[in-house]
Amino acid sequence: MRNALFWLLLIVVALAIGGTSVLKTGTAQAQQQLPATHFGAPDSGQALTSGMVTGFSGARAARNPQAPDARPVGQQVCTACHAKEADNFAHSTHALGMETALKRDGSTATCEACHGPGSTHARNPTQPGQIIAFTKKGGTPVETQAATCMACHSGGPRDHWLGSVHQRNGLSCSDCHNPMTQVAAEGLTAKQSINQTCATCHNDIRQQFNRRSHMPLPEGQMACVDCHNPHGTLNASLVKTDTVNETCYQCHAEKRGPFLFEHAPVRDNCLNCHTPHGSNQHALLVAPMPMLCQQCHSHMRHPNDLMTTQQLASGAGPNERAMGRACISCHAQIHGSNSPSGPRLHR
Ligand code: HEC
Ligand code: HEC
Ligand code: HEC
Ligand code: HEC
Ligand code: HEC
Ligand code: HEC
Ligand code: HEC
Ligand code: HEC
Ligand code: HEC
Ligand code: HEC
Repeated sequence: MRNALFWLLLIVVALAIGGTSVLKTGTAQAQQQLPATHFGAPDSGQALTSGMVTGFSGARAARNPQAPDARPVGQQVCTACHAKEADNFAHSTHALGMETALKRDGSTATCEACHGPGSTHARNPTQPGQIIAFTKKGGTPVETQAATCMACHSGGPRDHWLGSVHQRNGLSCSDCHNPMTQVAAEGLTAKQSINQTCATCHNDIRQQFNRRSHMPLPEGQMACVDCHNPHGTLNASLVKTDTVNETCYQCHAEKRGPFLFEHAPVRDNCLNCHTPHGSNQHALLVAPMPMLCQQCHSHMRHPNDLMTTQQLASGAGPNERAMGRACISCHAQIHGSNSPSGPRLHR
C-alpha cells in the first residue's frame, strides 16, 4: 500500500515538472518566432529578434551623405508640413512599432530613420538631396536608398541583394515596397498583391499565367515568391532554391522519389519538359506529345520511326503510339517507376 502511494506521488510530481517545462519551451519558441519572416530563412529576423519592439528601439536617423550638416529634428517637425503623408503612414507596420518605441524612449528616430536628418530640408524643402527621397526625381542615389533600408534589413533573404539582377538594374527597395501606406495585407508591397507588384515590370510573365495550363497563380493561391527570391540568389533567374527541381519539390514532393527506375531528364531538370509560367499544351508541357519525347528518343528501337503527320491521330494511318495520350498511354510513370517491372516506365 505504502509502495503504491509512493509511486503515485512520484508520477504526479514527474507530470507537474514535465508540464511546466513544456509550457516554458512553448513560450521560448513563441518569442523566437515573433518577427514576421518569410522565404523560410532561419535568420531573416536576425536584426529584430530580442523582443517585440527592439527592431525599432534605439533607431537613429539614417546617414545621408548628401547632407552632412543636417541634424535630426523629430517627427513633429515633419508632420507639421507633411500631415497627409503622416496620416497614411500611421497605419503601416513600421509606424506601429516606431510609435511604441518612441513612447519608451523619446530620442528614437521615426520618419528620420528612413529619410535621414531633416534640419536642412526643413529650412529649404525644395533643395534636392537634403532629405533621403525614394522617388526617381528625389535626388537621392539608389545606393543611399537601399543602404537606408538595409541598416535594419540586411541579411537573411537579402544576403545576395548586392550583385543581384534587380540591384544591377538600378531597382530601389521602393520599386516593390511602399512603407508609407499599407496597401497590401503583408509585405508592405507597392501594389495590393505580390503578383501585381511584379507585374508592373514583368507583365509578359504574368500574362503567360493566363494560358490554358497554368499553376493557380491568377486564382490567388500562389505568388511569384513561391519560386523566386526577388532580393537576389546565387543561381540564375532568382530561383529561390539551389536548383529548379528543389523549388518544384516544395509542392510536388512525390516527384522527388526515390525511384527504383529514374527517368534521367526528370532528375536533371523539370524544365526539360515543363514551363513554369504557363503553357497552351496540356500539363504545362513545352511541346505536344509525341514530339516532346522525340526530341530525345527518335533513334532507339521501337520509337525509331519518327512520328510524321501521316501517323498522327488526325493523319491517314494513325499510329497507336500517337493516339490518345500518345507515348504515356504505355509509359505512364514518366517521372519514375517503383515497380520491379517498370524499367521502361510502364507501371
Ligand atoms: C517647412 C515644411 C517642411 C518640413 C518641416 C519638412 N518638409 Fe519635407 N517637403 C516639404 C516640401 C514643400 C516638399 C516638396 C519639395 C519639392 O517638391 O521640391 C517636401 C518633400 C519631401 C519629400 C519628398 C522628396 C521627393 O522628391 O521625393 C520627403 C521624403 C520629405 N519631404 C520628408 C520630410 C521629412 C522626413 C521631414 C522631417 C524631418 C520633412 N520632410 C520636413 C516641406 C517640408
Ligand atoms: C520605413 C521607412 C520610412 C519611414 C519610417 C517613413 N518613410 Fe516616408 N517614404 C518612405 C519611402 C520608401 C517613400 C517612397 C514611397 C513611394 O514609392 O512613393 C517615402 C515617401 C515619403 C514622402 C514623399 C511623398 C510620398 O508619399 O511618396 C514624404 C513626404 C514622406 N515619405 C514623409 C514621411 C514622414 C513625414 C514620415 C514620418 C511620419 C515618414 N515619411 C516615415 C519610407 C519611409
Ligand atoms: C529602424 C529600422 C528600420 C528601417 C530603417 C526600415 N525598417 Fe522595415 N521593418 C523594421 C522592423 C523592426 C520590421 C518588423 C516589423 C514586424 O515584423 O512586425 C520591419 C518590417 C518591414 C517589412 C515587412 C512588413 C510586413 O508586413 O511583413 C518590409 C517589407 C520592410 N520593413 C521594408 C522596409 C523598407 C523598404 C525600408 C526602407 C525604405 C525599411 N523597411 C526601413 C525596421 C526598419
Ligand atoms: C523586385 C521587388 C522587390 C525589391 C526590389 C525588394 N523587395 Fe523586399 N520583398 C519583395 C516581396 C514580393 C516581398 C514579400 C515576400 C513574402 O511575403 O514572402 C518582400 C519582402 C520583404 C521584407 C519582409 C520579409 C523578409 O524578407 O524579412 C523585407 C524586410 C524586405 N522585403 C526588405 C527589402 C529591402 C530592404 C529592399 C531593398 C534593398 C527590398 N526589400 C527590395 C519584393 C522586393
Ligand atoms: C521596377 C521594375 C521591376 C519590378 C517591380 C520587378 N522586376 Fe524583376 N526584373 C527587372 C529588371 C529590369 C530585370 C532585368 C531584366 C533583364 O535583364 O532582362 C529583372 C529580372 C528579373 C528576373 C530574371 C533574373 C535573371 O537572372 O534572368 C526575375 C526572375 C525577376 N526579375 C523576378 C521578379 C519578381 C518575382 C518580382 C516581384 C517580386 C519582380 N521581378 C519585380 C525589373 C523589375
Ligand atoms: C512555379 C514556380 C514559378 C513561379 C510561380 C514563377 N516563376 Fe518565374 N521562373 C521560374 C523558373 C524555374 C524560372 C527559370 C526559367 C529558366 O531557367 O529557363 C523562372 C524564370 C523567370 C524569369 C526569367 C526568365 C524568363 O522567362 O524571362 C522571370 C523574369 C520570371 N521568372 C518572373 C516571374 C514572375 C514575375 C512571376 C509571377 C507572376 C513568376 N516568375 C512566377 C519559376 C517560377
Ligand atoms: C507553391 C507550390 C508550388 C510550386 C513551388 C510548384 N507548383 Fe506546380 N502546381 C502547384 C499547384 C497548386 C498546382 C495545381 C494542382 C491541381 O490543380 O491539382 C500545380 C500544378 C502543376 C502541374 C500540372 C498543371 C496542369 O495543367 O495539370 C505541373 C506540370 C506543375 N505544377 C509543375 C511544376 C514545376 C515544374 C514546378 C517547379 C518549377 C512547380 N510545379 C512548382 C503548386 C506548386
Ligand atoms: C520527360 C519529360 C518530363 C519531365 C522532365 C518532367 N515531367 Fe512532369 N509531366 C510530364 C508529362 C508527359 C506529364 C503529363 C502526364 C499525364 O498527362 O498524365 C507530366 C505531368 C506532370 C504533373 C501533373 C500530373 C501529375 O503527375 O501530378 C506534375 C505536377 C508534374 N508533371 C511535375 C513535374 C516535376 C515537379 C518535374 C521535375 C521533378 C517534372 N514534372 C519533370 C513529363 C515530364
Ligand atoms: C530531354 C531528353 C528526354 C526527353 C524529353 C524524354 N526522355 Fe525519356 N529518357 C531520356 C534519357 C536520357 C533516358 C535514359 C536512357 C538510358 O538510360 O539509356 C530516358 C529513358 C526513357 C525510358 C526508359 C528506356 C530505357 O532504356 O531505360 C523511357 C520508356 C522513356 N525515356 C520514355 C520517354 C517518354 C515517353 C518521353 C516523353 C513523355 C520521354 N522519354 C522524354 C531522355 C529524355
Ligand atoms: C502501345 C504501348 C507503347 C506506346 C504507345 C509507346 N511505347 Fe515505348 N515501349 C513500349 C514497350 C512495351 C517497350 C519495351 C520494349 C522492350 O522492353 O523491349 C517500350 C520501350 C520504349 C523505350 C526503350 C527502348 C529500349 O531501348 O528498350 C523507349 C525510349 C520508348 N519506348 C519510348 C517511347 C516513345 C517516345 C513513345 C511515343 C512516341 C512510345 N514509347 C510509345 C510500349 C509503348
